[in-house]
Amino acid sequence: MRVLILGGDGYLGWPTAMDFAAAGHECCVADNYLRRHIAEATDSEALMVAPSLTERAQIFRAASGYHIDVRIGDLSDPEVMFEIVRDFSPDTIIHYAEQPSAPYSMRGFREAQETFQNNLNVTFNCIWAVKDLVPDCQIVKLGTMGEYGTPNIDIEEGWIEIEHKGRKDTFLFPRAAGSLYHTTKVLDTDLLWFYVRTYGLRVTDLMQGPVYGISTEEADLDPRLCPHFHYDDIFGTLVNRFLVQAVAGVPLTVYGGGGQTRGYLNLRDTLQCVRLAAGNPAKRGELRIFNQLTEIFTVNEVAERVKTVGDKMGLDVAIKSIPNPRKEKEEHYYNPTHSGLRELGLIPHYMTDDVVAATLERIIANKDRIVTGRIMPRVRWN
Ligand SMILES: NC(=O)c1ccc[n+]([C@@H]2O[C@H](COP(=O)([O-])OP(=O)(O)OC[C@H]3O[C@@H](n4cnc5c(N)ncnc54)[C@H](O)[C@@H]3O)[C@@H](O)[C@H]2O)c1
Repeated sequence: MRVLILGGDGYLGWPTAMDFAAAGHECCVADNYLRRHIAEATDSEALMVAPSLTERAQIFRAASGYHIDVRIGDLSDPEVMFEIVRDFSPDTIIHYAEQPSAPYSMRGFREAQETFQNNLNVTFNCIWAVKDLVPDCQIVKLGTMGEYGTPNIDIEEGWIEIEHKGRKDTFLFPRAAGSLYHTTKVLDTDLLWFYVRTYGLRVTDLMQGPVYGISTEEADLDPRLCPHFHYDDIFGTLVNRFLVQAVAGVPLTVYGGGGQTRGYLNLRDTLQCVRLAAGNPAKRGELRIFNQLTEIFTVNEVAERVKTVGDKMGLDVAIKSIPNPRKEKEEHYYNPTHSGLRELGLIPHYMTDDVVAATLERIIANKDRIVTGRIMPRVRWN
């Protein structure tokens, strides 16, 4: 395949690029370093310093022999998107290029506007570039389980059949996002569905849960190939944050009651899911939706697991409930279907004690770099 990865400098984009390249695909990454700029502006830099995308591609080539083509540019600019798509002529686009932080999107008008415009424009430009230049190219788009919110019924994989006054039809599953960022993902899905049913594009929308981890086959070749690993309140995902807090000696910050339940997955499984989706493309005119998660935990369960492993390693981990900065249910029903990717062949890497311990070891080796001022929530919308 000729795989174009939008957002290829990101936490998920960079390891995905290495994974596709190592599997023998021709791979191009595009990014404008938006995440690095926001991290710098909000004092939320990653734990390990990552070289530039061009440098990382060179390091990867030296370590593995595989080539990754790098393009730096703002994909919310249609000229940039069209030029890259025209020049590289992909048959698969993996679309990660969005502002993915819920707290950042709720920080104020400027950040909300930036998130709204950036995310919708990148998706819109991607759709039009495919429609006009490479109509047979599949789009694999990263959505989020946060699009569904926490409804009091089972969450289906994207679609639901509704019977109303004696008649039946199938609709997108109802969405109720909890932040402006998550709402942009809902709007993305609607935009994709409109263009799929109108122009016959082929799209897979992956409703992904929070990802954790740092290790992949290729990232482990050289420490400089490590994905951005965030532990701050802006970009850090829950498990990664708790692991760093355990090492820093900061009590694990459970927001409110800690009964918030979500579906999680290991970074290695994000790569597997995206590879499986791309290898089994949606048909022309199909918006295929998978719920991308492997295990379901409450926040309290994640905290207990990190504490159990951390204590065995002599870290003496404490857990502390703090006022919830987010408007969200702290006790709720949660039962999402997630069988589609398993049926395609996903073999999960679960959050075992060994996986938790190995990540803690990596963090301990970088302990001196932890800035504890980045840990407590700095944005509230409750
Ligand atoms: N990490 C998770 O746990 C998680 C969970 C669910 C969904 N997702 C989704 O997966 C995708 C990737 O997430 P991530 O954690 O790797 O985020 P990330 O911020 O690390 O990666 C996104 C990348 O896209 C780039 N980007 C953003 N706007 C751009 C633009 N206009 N032009 C060029 N590049 C641009 C950023 O610079 C960044 O490198 C996002 O769409 C996110 O919503 C992530």
